[in-house]
Amino acid sequence: MYHIKNNDFYCEEVLLKDLATKYKTPFYVYSLNKLKQNLEAIKKPFLDNFPNGMICYAIKANSNLTFLKYLSQNGCGFDAVSGGELERVYTIQKHLNNVVYSGTTKSYEELEKAILYDIFMINCESISEIKHIAEISQKHNKKVRLAIRVNPAVSPKTHPNIDTGNKGAKFGIAMDHFLEAALLIKSSELLSLQGISCHIGSMVENEVYYFEMLNQLVDLLELLKKHDIFISHLDMGGGYAIQYTQENTINFEKLFTHYKKVLEPYNLIPIIEPGRSIIGNVGALVAKAVYTKQQNNRNFMFLDAGMTELIRPALYNAIHKIVAITHSSPLSVSYTIGGPICESSDIFRDNAELYATEGDLILIENAGAYGYSMASNYNTRPKAPEVLIDGAKDLLINKREEISDLWKTEIIHDL
Ligand code: LLP
Repeated sequence: MYHIKNNDFYCEEVLLKDLATKYKTPFYVYSLNKLKQNLEAIKKPFLDNFPNGMICYAIKANSNLTFLKYLSQNGCGFDAVSGGELERVYTIQKHLNNVVYSGTTKSYEELEKAILYDIFMINCESISEIKHIAEISQKHNKKVRLAIRVNPAVSPKTHPNIDTGNKGAKFGIAMDHFLEAALLIKSSELLSLQGISCHIGSMVENEVYYFEMLNQLVDLLELLKKHDIFISHLDMGGGYAIQYTQENTINFEKLFTHYKKVLEPYNLIPIIEPGRSIIGNVGALVAKAVYTKQQNNRNFMFLDAGMTELIRPALYNAIHKIVAITHSSPLSVSYTIGGPICESSDIFRDNAELYATEGDLILIENAGAYGYSMASNYNTRPKAPEVLIDGAKDLLINKREEISDLWKTEIIHDL
């Protein structure tokens, strides 16, 4: 999402150095052009194979309203996982008729909101949830379209924290409870079983795991057929890997052609829920090197951004490439790069070779997905601003939080 010209770093036509002066560090920067490319890269092979297929962007990857609006206007629906995410979508498009709603623990109020907004489909993850929905649908005398999210017992062999398809995971209804769930929905007058949904995990690097998942789903379609139950939609989740360093990525052409071949006899509308593959490499985090220190044979470089801005290295041992945007050191130094947070895990990475020292600007790549959306106020740090670059224009799409905002919900008592 950036390029180098005469030793200067640009996002599209904007000098990153200039942005740092204007917005102060740390901040997130995104390229609109890259977003367009990513969307096209998935849309074309998907829609070529399934002209009426639905791309439901996983809001959790990056839920900025400007991005949601852009995606909505460019043919995407959404995968939401909370009442808050439903409200975000409602804010930008005033309806939820292209939204699927996943998650193990939707509250009564959240379900009620989804139903009153006439959501496209609720992906149910337990028998109890289906009973809750039946109750709410009766209370309001409203029909509700459901999918059963199944746990296919297929592990995509990613980091254990983001593997949702393995048998032991908390997500979805186990294969051997699927029929019970389907019959329960069938027996409820106001509920209709519209689909089956499945999401095996995130950072999936090989199509074969999706092929295995699809085999399981086909077994379920056959089972439904035996019971004279016919559905219209098959939601096959997201999880397509991006390249942080050495990872493989998914060949969409291969994946969707396979989906088409297998699904040919069923006449279903497929849904996919990509998040990271649409927004991950669109964004970067720009920070400043505040201090360096040498001890125990380590060269530390401390940035003004940390796990509060990008928690992935601390949470999943994720490796993000780090480059220096300005270079005040004549020599390359191998740094351990950390942040300001009082946690030993607040380290972005070891062995980053940089011609940089105190005062230089540092860029952390691939922070577009699960960067801002997982940011926190730990250590009472205001969240950093988000800036979108469109050609030569920089658009502030999210302001830096004010420190005083951070305690505006608190009530001080004299005790
Ligand atoms: N659909 C469902 C039901 C999901 O739970 C997720 C992600 C997605 C779609 C989108 O997955 P994606 O295409 O973005 O991989 N914080 C972690 C990732 C957690 C993903 C949670 N679910 C990370 O930073 O790697």
